[in-house]
Amino acid sequence: MQINVMPGALQTVAAQAIVVNLFEGVTVPGGATGAVDRALGGQIQALIAGGDFRGKRNEVAVLYPTGAIPAQRVILVGLGKSEKFTLDVIRQAAGTAAQKARDLGVTHLHTIIHGAGIGGVAPELAAEATVEGTLLGLYRFHELKTQLEDARPDLETLTLVELDAARVPALEAGARTGQIVAESTLLARDLVNRPANIATPTHIAETAARMAAETGLRCEVLDKAALEALGMHLLLSVNRGGGEPARMVILEHNAGRDDLPTVVLVGKGITFDTGGISLKPGENMHRMKGDMGGAAAVIGALRALALLDVPLHVVGLAPLTENMPDAHATKPGDVVCSLKGLTVEILNTDAEGRLILADALTYAGTFGPAAVFDIATLTGARVVALGDHAAAVMGDEALIARLRTAGDATYERVWPLPLFEEYGEQLKSGVADVANIGGRAGGSITAGYFLSKFVPDGVPWAHIDIAGLDQIEKDLPYIPKGATGFGVRLFVELLRHW
Ligand code: BES
Ligand code: MN
Ligand code: ZN
Repeated sequence: MQINVMPGALQTVAAQAIVVNLFEGVTVPGGATGAVDRALGGQIQALIAGGDFRGKRNEVAVLYPTGAIPAQRVILVGLGKSEKFTLDVIRQAAGTAAQKARDLGVTHLHTIIHGAGIGGVAPELAAEATVEGTLLGLYRFHELKTQLEDARPDLETLTLVELDAARVPALEAGARTGQIVAESTLLARDLVNRPANIATPTHIAETAARMAAETGLRCEVLDKAALEALGMHLLLSVNRGGGEPARMVILEHNAGRDDLPTVVLVGKGITFDTGGISLKPGENMHRMKGDMGGAAAVIGALRALALLDVPLHVVGLAPLTENMPDAHATKPGDVVCSLKGLTVEILNTDAEGRLILADALTYAGTFGPAAVFDIATLTGARVVALGDHAAAVMGDEALIARLRTAGDATYERVWPLPLFEEYGEQLKSGVADVANIGGRAGGSITAGYFLSKFVPDGVPWAHIDIAGLDQIEKDLPYIPKGATGFGVRLFVELLRHW
């Protein structure tokens, strides 16, 4: 989609539709909404006075000016209570309004910059959130449908209209950032939505390489032979039962810039998790196509960081394999030697994510990082502990504090769990250095504890468990049902303000 910023008064624009907004409880709108209302002879005030529009968050109404102003339609969206106004409300309002516009067949939409007026949000941030919410909210995954039941055309342009011409440069900067961040999130959503017969390790590696060529990232893809030569036997042990060869993607932003601090992002890339020989039950197993959501988040984040030219050396690592059972598959009780040299007793082949991450975390050490983050759909216990509204984070307290700030800003929120050394008792193995499961109690924590054993010595590290957050079952204002792209916006926010 093309995004424009134009100086001018919304009520004077000859548009297919214009978007204005209203806080709950306001009876006489001000700002751009007020100007449109006056030009319409008080139609918006009448709607409020009649009790037909209260300004509740994501409430939406359409007005037909019939010549009173040049626009064909006015889309009015509620912002909720002004005390509860945040950047996320902007994203939601933008997503809601854009979806309404598309429902009406609108292809060129003009909008107010939500929050930049009485909302009191800095113009750049308001523009960013407005663009982000629009692009994220309009996302559809229909590349595999030959029969489109939903034939509504996509929006072609979004134009932000601002009265004060002096604000245009800031709005343009914010709009550009919003577009980069949103489109990078959509790349991650596509990778998660694609089924496992399409989004194989090879496909994901090729997609990452193509994206890297477009954005100037360095990209290297390690094939099975390279993984064997390196000694990434934990990753290879998960790959044994599958038909698709394993890969590891290495993406690098500002490669070779040793004047910049290095941050490594590691993402779990299980393209399908059957559980392996420790086979999962059949119900909802199809959801495990999203078990590469961590890898998708890392690939999406690297795209955005490159396009935003963030002044850091950022490395993205995505170990990729399916987890399948066959005659060659790893069996419960097998012992495998990790890249680090620690031996692992694989008591449950369904605890595979921590295995591939362990080798990737060890590999991260070769970059001399100032910080390492991993992101993974790691444990069902994460869903039990925190539900739908926060990812679990473990590890270095200072990194967790940074993640919490970034999570609050993006609404990809995170919440900490402890890694007390006593949890390590649960991972003791009778035959190897460590076991890959620690029983039901504290399942997310013992998974995180397992990972901690493979983090290079002295490197600050944080682990983000996003199990169950990779896909959603019900539409949200700017996250349609399906893949969420969770983690892209979190990482970009974190590293932009590093
Ligand atoms: N990919 C799953 C975790 C998961 C669960 C992701 C629900 C998304 C939604 C992971 O590989 C897994 O199977 N974890 C096991 C670990 C157990 C065997 C210790 C789990 O959580 O049951
Ligand atoms: Mn599993
Ligand atoms: Zn898994």
